[in-house]
Amino acid sequence: MNKQNLNDVSDNLVDIIRRRPDYFYTFAYLKRKLEIDEDLLAKAIALLRQTGYRIETRKDTHCAFKSAPDLLLRAEILHGLKTKKMGRNVHAFQSVQSTNIIARQMAETGAVEGTIVVAEEQTRGRGRLGRKWFSSNGKGIYLSIIIYPDIRPTMAPGLSIMTALALADTISDYGAPSVNIKWPNDCLINGRKTVGILTELSAEIGKVHYVIVGVGINVNQQREDFPEDIRKRATSVGAELKRKLSRVELLQNFLYQFEKDYRVYQKSGLKNLRKRIVKYSNLIGSFVSLGQKDEIISGIARDIDTEGRLILELPDGNRKAFNAGEVTVIKE
Ligand code: BTN
Repeated sequence: MNKQNLNDVSDNLVDIIRRRPDYFYTFAYLKRKLEIDEDLLAKAIALLRQTGYRIETRKDTHCAFKSAPDLLLRAEILHGLKTKKMGRNVHAFQSVQSTNIIARQMAETGAVEGTIVVAEEQTRGRGRLGRKWFSSNGKGIYLSIIIYPDIRPTMAPGLSIMTALALADTISDYGAPSVNIKWPNDCLINGRKTVGILTELSAEIGKVHYVIVGVGINVNQQREDFPEDIRKRATSVGAELKRKLSRVELLQNFLYQFEKDYRVYQKSGLKNLRKRIVKYSNLIGSFVSLGQKDEIISGIARDIDTEGRLILELPDGNRKAFNAGEVTVIKE
């Protein structure tokens, strides 16, 4: 019996016994149901305990499920997941350099749409514009979703802002106060960055091969957990709500919302999502500066269009659409 099989057996075992928490299942029943022998059952229970599950045994003949760890494990993510596609194929890791890199390798070899890569920790978490993404162990969600949208490459920025919308809705549902989307695709709570999105795509002219939607969510970090250089600008959902959240549940809720919004996006792009995005936007009506490759442009943010572009009213009164850039609010 190799390790992979032991993992599968453990997943199946926990699936069965968690159906009735605290109930003592007989080993005889579990062995029959899982088609395994005593030795493998004992190994599976030991592995689950090692992973952080609380499983009580009685007289070496019965066992009961007590609780699951808040770890981004495959079995935990799948348990109670309400999506049809998103997150149905899970690759969960303890530590990786970057989930986006692994997801990209999987997309290259044809992983199914909705495959996700998650990790407890990233050693080289990547942010936009070549920045790093702070990815400490066990407190955040580091996730990449593989999708194959039938869109032109120019439409891809719309996917990032659609993702930001799904995240803003997910976080708001927890009761987080003052949730904003900062164009192009950050989510803020009380003005501090809580979520970052890094969308990467493989495409040729006129056709997208695949898109990796990389999402970093600060969930249970406290202020002092963040490195000093970002402490003033960063926060986590848990810190703002003053309670510890289940990362597994938050991930499941997000995947559900993402799937819903992605379905709408596939039919009509941002057309039917735009209003909700604009509602969350903290820029509309403000005087902003927008950092471009080699210039800084200032103007009043007037809108976000159906391609996810920011519409600025320039000092000469003309309006211009921008695909990307670093926005700073000068005057609200
Ligand atoms: C940003 O705001 O600059 C984007 C941050 C994106 C971070 C996520 S974490 C999961 C995925 N893997 C990465 O290396 N980056 C993205």
